[in-house]
Amino acid sequence: MAVIDVSNLQKDYGSLQALKSVTLQVDSGQIYGLLGQNGAGKSTMIKILLGIVRLTSGEANLLGFPAGTIEVRKRVGYLPEDHAFPGYHTGESLLHFYGELYGMNRPDRVKRIAESLDIVGLSKRGSSKIKTYSKGMKQRLGIAQSFFHDPEVIFLDEPTDGVDPVGRKEIRELLATLKDEGRTIFVNSHLLQEIELMCDRVAIMHKGEIVRTGTVAELTKTVERFSITLAPGADFPVAEVKALGFKVERDDEETHVELKPGQSIDTVLDLLSSKNLRLRNVRESKQTLEDIFMDLVEQAERGSTKRGVRVARAVGARRDD
Ligand SMILES: Nc1ncnc2c1ncn2[C@@H]1O[C@H](COP(=O)(O)OP(=O)(O)OP(=O)(O)O)[C@@H](O)[C@H]1O
Ligand SMILES: [Mg+2]
Repeated sequence: MAVIDVSNLQKDYGSLQALKSVTLQVDSGQIYGLLGQNGAGKSTMIKILLGIVRLTSGEANLLGFPAGTIEVRKRVGYLPEDHAFPGYHTGESLLHFYGELYGMNRPDRVKRIAESLDIVGLSKRGSSKIKTYSKGMKQRLGIAQSFFHDPEVIFLDEPTDGVDPVGRKEIRELLATLKDEGRTIFVNSHLLQEIELMCDRVAIMHKGEIVRTGTVAELTKTVERFSITLAPGADFPVAEVKALGFKVERDDEETHVELKPGQSIDTVLDLLSSKNLRLRNVRESKQTLEDIFMDLVEQAERGSTKRGVRVARAVGARRDD
């Protein structure tokens, strides 16, 4: 069963269409990433599912119930974006507060607070005031709050925002732990690399529309591409390679050859060899989610489905890894 099932969802804020006919399903036990630029509609989507914001039209179901159903709220956790937990609370007192809201008695809360702080690596700082916490610690405490009541589904709105690389890695590991416990995790982010590293499936949202969904592997495997550098002084025979049916893009240093299904890079390498053009470097350049994202954004801006030159530029600009 789909834990989240959204169809033709629309949300208008006055004349602004924040969501335009969004359709999305999230299966149980996944880490699902919703990726999009600022203002794309990611937070609006989460808020509708949680019943914080009312939808304009369409359907949004969570755990088989219409979004906003009170009983479902007990079964979900939520880390809002830009949360500001009061600095006078300690980690422990904040979790006591949430535990009381969930109706837990004191012995249960004490036990669960110790467990939760341990899971997020804050055991030693649980009695310190939140105002003394780093940004990463605040986010980890926020995540502890989100899973404190043992929910089936957890919504995290920008969980790694403002957190340094070490802290981000810790948060990714934490999400993997929560997933291993059988929970479904829905993550909003505008950070491409985060989504790429932590999610099983991804939806890319642009200006209130889902423009692509799939696994990270599916999304990044769409195009096979090689970046070729010839020995100094050699000129890449662009016209001849194009004449063989390959798509060729050049930047200052490299020539990028894109393969269509059925094409092999060997054809190009054989041609170069027959012309005595010596190779300095050939590397397969996998598209990152960033390339896909930039490409989709550009397509959406142009209102076209044709692949743009942006991908070639993004590939050219990418580090070698
Ligand atoms: N309460 C509101 N009233 C009016 N407009 C709103 C409201 N909340 C959001 N919007 C608008 O809806 C659009 C989507 O906003 P939303 O916060 O969902 O984007 P987002 O993808 O979460 O962005 P970010 O990455 O910056 O958090 C934006 O144009 C925003 O200005
Ligand atoms: Mg947001």
